[in-house]
Amino acid sequence: MTAAAAVTALAPDLAPGLAPGLAQKVAQLDQFLAGIASRHGSIKLASSLAAEDMVLTHAILSRHLKITIFSLNTGRLHAETVAMIDRVSERYGYQIEQFYPLSSAVDAYVETHGINAFYESIELRKQCCEMRKVEPLNRALSGVDAWVTGQRREQSVTRAELHLEERDSARGIAKYNPLTDWTEAEVWAYLEAFAVPVNPLHARGYPSIGCEPCTRAVRPGEDSRAGRWWWESRDSKECGLHISITAIPG
Ligand code: ADX
Ligand code: SF4
Repeated sequence: MTAAAAVTALAPDLAPGLAPGLAQKVAQLDQFLAGIASRHGSIKLASSLAAEDMVLTHAILSRHLKITIFSLNTGRLHAETVAMIDRVSERYGYQIEQFYPLSSAVDAYVETHGINAFYESIELRKQCCEMRKVEPLNRALSGVDAWVTGQRREQSVTRAELHLEERDSARGIAKYNPLTDWTEAEVWAYLEAFAVPVNPLHARGYPSIGCEPCTRAVRPGEDSRAGRWWWESRDSKECGLHISITAIPG
C-alpha cells in the first residue's frame, strides 16, 4: 500500500470511539480546513510539532488538503521534537518544510550576548525569539495568502481573546486558529483515536513544548504554559509569533 493510501485508510469519516460532541467538532474541523484550503491560493500550517499541531497535521494530510506544513527549526529544539519531522515523514510520506534562523544573526547574537543570554532579561529573550523564530516565520510566510496555527484559547491568559478567523495585519494576510475552542482532553482524544504520532516529551510532563533551554516540565495542577519561559511573568510569555492581529467578528 502506498503511504497516501495508508493515510486514507486511517481516516474514516467518523473516528472509532470518539464521543458524539468531539465527533461533531472533528467534522467541523475537517469542513473548516477544506473550506480555507480551497479559498486561498497559498496557505500554510505553522507546526511546532507539539500535540495541537499534530491534530492539524493529521487532519490536513489524511485528507490531502492543499495546505503546506512548515516548522521553524530554531536550532535550540529538543532532539525529540526534531525527530517528529521524520516520524511525520514515515507515517504520512510528507516532508515538513523547515525554516532556520540566519547563521549571521545567530553568530552576531552569540558573540555579543552569549548563547544563553535569554535568561538575563526579557529584552534579550525577545531578541533571541525574534532572530530564531520571527524572522524565519516572516520568510516562511512571504508570498502566502493565509496561515494556520494550533493555538487554543484555554492555553493562557494571553490567548483568552483568540478567534477562529483573524487578520494578520502586519503581513496583510488571513490567520486561522481552527482549534480555538478545543480542550486539552479533546486534543488527546483525537490523537489517540487516530493513532497520530506524538512528541514523547508530552508524556514526560511537557504540555507545551518550545525550545529546549526555555521549556521545562510542569508539576500536576500547574498551568499548561507554566513550563515556558518559567522565569518570566505570565503576561510576557509570548515569543512574537502571534502579534499584530485583528479579530474578525463572528
Ligand atoms: S509560542 O508562541 O509560545 O511559541 P506555542 O508553542 O504555544 O507558541 O504554539 C502556538 C502555535 O504557534 C503553534 O500551534 C504553531 O502554530 C506555532 N508555532 C510555535 N512554535 C513553532 C515552531 N517552532 N514552528 C512553527 N510554528 C510554531
Ligand atoms: Fe531563543 Fe528561547 Fe526564544 Fe528559543 S524560546 S528562540 S531559545 S529565547
